[in-house]
Parts: sequence; structure tokens; C-alpha cells
Amino acid sequence: FVTPMLVPPVMPRTGTVPVAGGRAADCYEISVRQLRQQVLPAGWPRTTVWGYGPVGPPGGKDRMMHHAPAATIEARWRRPVRITWVNDLVDAEGGYLPHLLPVDPTLHWANPPGGRTGRDSRPSFATTPGRYTGPVPMVTHLHGAVGVGDESDGYAQAWYLPAARNIPGDHAREGSWHAFFGRKAANRFGVSWSRGSATFQYPNDQRAATLWYHDHSLGMTRVNLYAGPVGFFLLRGGPHGDQAVVDRRTGDEAVLPGPASAPGGRSANQAGHELVLVIQDRAFNEDGSLFYPDTREFFDGATADAPGFVPDTDLPPIWNPEFFGNTILVNGNTWPFRHVEQRRYRLRFLNGCQSRFLVLDFSRIPGVEVWDIGNDGGFLAAPVNLTAEHGNRLLMAPAERADLVVDFTEVPVGRWVLGNVGPDEPFGGGEPGTDFEAADPATTGRLLQFRVSRAAGRDRSTPPRFLELPRVTPLARAARTRRLALMEMMSQSWDGPAQAMLGILDADGVPVHRMEGEQVTENPDAGDTEIWELHNFTADAHPIHVHAVTFEVLNRQALVVDADGEAVPPSRPVGDVLAPHPWESGLKDTVVAYPGQVTRIRATFSQPGQFVWHCHILEHEDNEMMRPYRVGPAQP
Ligand code: C2O
Ligand code: CU
Repeated sequence: FVTPMLVPPVMPRTGTVPVAGGRAADCYEISVRQLRQQVLPAGWPRTTVWGYGPVGPPGGKDRMMHHAPAATIEARWRRPVRITWVNDLVDAEGGYLPHLLPVDPTLHWANPPGGRTGRDSRPSFATTPGRYTGPVPMVTHLHGAVGVGDESDGYAQAWYLPAARNIPGDHAREGSWHAFFGRKAANRFGVSWSRGSATFQYPNDQRAATLWYHDHSLGMTRVNLYAGPVGFFLLRGGPHGDQAVVDRRTGDEAVLPGPASAPGGRSANQAGHELVLVIQDRAFNEDGSLFYPDTREFFDGATADAPGFVPDTDLPPIWNPEFFGNTILVNGNTWPFRHVEQRRYRLRFLNGCQSRFLVLDFSRIPGVEVWDIGNDGGFLAAPVNLTAEHGNRLLMAPAERADLVVDFTEVPVGRWVLGNVGPDEPFGGGEPGTDFEAADPATTGRLLQFRVSRAAGRDRSTPPRFLELPRVTPLARAARTRRLALMEMMSQSWDGPAQAMLGILDADGVPVHRMEGEQVTENPDAGDTEIWELHNFTADAHPIHVHAVTFEVLNRQALVVDADGEAVPPSRPVGDVLAPHPWESGLKDTVVAYPGQVTRIRATFSQPGQFVWHCHILEHEDNEMMRPYRVGPAQP
């Protein structure tokens, strides 16, 4: 704990433009660049990463603002945001930069110049035997955005290459965002595409919430994200924003910690008493570079060397079914510290890990009191006292967010560690110490250190027990229920680790996977409300994310399982219907589907278009645990 925790600055705007409905949109130009960053403590080598940042004059001071994680986009309710996302992974001479990390060309992946999959052809840009060294496809998704047109959503196959001097123009178009959405891009929302960039628009009509943006390229999200391109997007205001929180003692507007939440909410500065924290696990080589496996030897049971192993291409498969790093980063530094005073703070957490479920553990901070007030989709129905009711702990699956009020008023002056008692391996549910071994207390069992000092001024914020959070309006009755399946299969084309997949239950309750990955089986009518049942036949918990909507977590129910606790087909729900966890009230966009259970969610699908739903374990999402779904009729 030797590096001060970074507080991401606010992303600068480039201006505003008038948009439909007499409104104005805030405009941004944001590129992804390669940069060297001090990720490890000072004195250790710097690390080459990718980060989002404002497009500025080349070499200008804005260049300094590229960072992993990136600056925070501050958005207001009902004020659209329009962003030109630039893939700027080029070198000083304008040639494309190769990937920092090993790309597995045997997966169903972006595969420039597109049109062919890696299973039956060699990527056109592979110039070094055994390794993909071509340009990097990218496309940005705003995770948690509701009501976004599909052309702006970061559809996994709608990637695009940088405008590099050594990429032929037709290669930059083929298989890209343009191929998917170009024909209608003239276009609603003024969305547009050109070589190396795409302009997306977000309406921001949804409830105020903690959103985040990240790359979403097909079959390579895990390696793209591992290199760093993520950032927060805070949507504030409106009938479900901070100003709608009431102090029950007075009936007036409550005061949440942080200048951003002062009555009137004028300041967009999130430094001070409100902080965003993204937690990521990573591993490093001795020279400070990022380590990500380039063989399957890190998967126990790897069989790449087994007799009879015949890969389809001359590039060997390197996908590992999960990744667990041996270091923890908070806001881009390993194990940082943060000075706090004896007062309340609002801490907005994001689990940004590849595969790792975290269990935040505040119990090693004496006198602390922790309240959970929000999740992925904004405020909860009511504050949850994690200290009194949940042993000062909170489970966070990859991609989940938690909006916490942490009260340090009674914490003794000193240095205290926020722990993690989640497992160093896939999560199967249950409690640390009983059902699984908690993370290594010397490394991944620690997240950051708080250095507590006396408060300089009076804490004007409302004690969380008096907070009355904005009303959550229940969704309409569901028009239909879909029975969906999470299942595991041995890979078909090579002898490797089992891959998790998504499918549907047939009329008898037997899970069916459609190998034709493009075939849409989930096709709600626009405006319909549906219940989706997630029947988990695998041995692990999976965080399931549905794009373009926020949903209610309705309940969970045990399925008939075998001796290993795995559900046996046909799916048979038995026993009690379990209420969601208290921190799952309100609306969410990512839900934990536990093994041996069906998890039921309900969503209203308002925005027509083609989107995806998927597991947010990045190694799963990249290897078939993602499905397209469509709202409304197919495009003509
Ligand atoms: Cu955070 Cu489809 O992703
Ligand atoms: Cu998964």
C-alpha cells in the first residue's frame, strides 16, 4: 500500500449539438491509445497498457489524459451524450499496433478482415508464425445503457480497425460496424461511422446510475479489456437521482456524501467524499508488462499436448476457461491507499475483474458502518445495512456495481485494509470458509488501505438510516416467460477445456444449444415485458448481463441436482422460491445465476434492434457464452 489511489478526472467535452426533441447532446471525442503507465509501485518498471482519453492535438497535453482506467463521463438525466469512439491503436508512423496480448484465432472472433472465422481459415494479418500480429478490432459498449439504438450499443461483431496507413480501406470496412449497421446509418440519432471511428449516441432517459464503458469485440473482449480500456459513466439527476433522495427526519432533500450530491447538484466534480473504484486482478512479467497466458498450460487439465491433438489451424488454441491474477488493482494501481477522514464517504465500486467474484470485506476496519444504497440500475428500494445484517460483506460478480455509504466516523485514526474474501478460483455460491476458501490473505485477499485521520470539518451528510430512496416502479406483467439454459460442453473442434454456453430449454425442459451462433431465439416484441428464466446446468455461478435493458431480479429456485450439485436435465425447479438478496432490489443489468438453480428476471424490451445477452466472465463471453437477441422484427 505505497501508491495513492488515483481519482479519475472528469472527461472533457468537445461541445454540444442540437438533437431531436429540442434537446442538446453533450459531445465527446474519445480514443483508445497505447501508453506506458506506472501501474506497479514507483521504482518498478512501467507497464504498457491501453486507455481511453480525449482526442487532442497529437502530442498535446490531452495525450496525458489517456489512462487505464479512463476519465469519468459525467452525464445528466435526459441530456443525450454523443461520443465519437476512435480506435487509435497506431504507432508514431501511423502503422497499426499489434495486440499487447495473445489473441486466440481458433475462437469465433472478430478476425480481420472478416467474413471468415478462425476455425476454418488463417487470419489475413498473421505475419509471425503462431501468433496473430494484425491490427486490433475494437468497439465500445456502454454497459448499463438503456434505450440505446443497436448501432450505438457496441454489438460484438460491429468492431472496426484503426485508420492505419498500412490497412487497405476495404479491410477496414469488411466485417465491421459498417457492415452491420452502415446501411441504416444515415440514420436515427445522427450516428455515423468512418474509417477508424464510430459515433454513438446515448439517450440517458433511464434512472440515474453507475454505468461503465469498455471494449466489446467478438472473441477478444478478455484480452482487449485486460490491456485497460474501461471507464466510468455516471448518470445523475432526474426523478431517480440524488436530488430525489429524502431525509426521513425532515421530509426534505437528503445530503449524500460528496460535492456532486450537494443540494442542487451543481458540481460535477466527483473528487472529495464521493469516489469511484474499479477493482481488477492482473498478473505481471518481471519487466512490468502485463501477463496473460499464451498457452493452455495454466488451465489444469490442459490437453493441448495430448496425443491426437489436432488444431484446425496452424495457430494453436490458447484460450483458458477462466483467469485469476495474483495482484489486485484499484483504479489502475496495485494495492493503493486512500486518505479518508472520520466521516461518511460514498464509494461506487465496480468489479472489473476478468473471472473473479469479489466479496468485499469491511470487517477488518474497526467501528466502520457500511450501507448499500445502489446497484447496477441506480438506487435500491431501501438502504441495506451491511454491517448489521451481512457481516460487513458484499458479494460482487464481474461487471456488478455497488453504491456504498461507508461511515468512518467511529473508525480509529490509523491504517485499515479493505479485504476480499471471495475465492481465488471460480465461484460456486456459498460462504467463505464454509463453502470455499477465501482469497490469499497476503495478496488477492486485500484490495486497498484506508488511512483514517480526524475530520477537518463537520459532516453534513444524512446518516444512511434516515435515507428514503426514490421509488422503484414495478414493471408491467410479463407477456411471456422464456426458459433459457446455461450449460457446459466439451469443445467440438479441439480437445480442450469445457466451454460454457447459452441455449434454450426445449418443451421437455432439456437444454438445447444452437451451434449456429447467429440464430436468434430470443425475440421479444418492442414494448413487451418478459420473464427470462436462467436455468444453470453448470457447476459455477455466472454473472448474466442483458444489453439495452435493466431488469428486476424476481427470485431463484433450486433445481433437481446430481451428487455433484449440478442440475440434471430435464430442468425441474423444486423447493422454496428464494427472494433476491436485499442488494438486488431496484433494477439491475447483471445478475448472478447460481449453479443448481433457476434465476428469474423480468425486463421490458422497449428499444427495437439486435443486441446481445451474455455471461460477464470475460473468458466465457469470448468463447460462446454470448447470444444475440432481437427486439421487434428483423431488419429488412
Ligand atoms: Cu459489460 Cu456486454 O458487457
Ligand atoms: Cu460464465
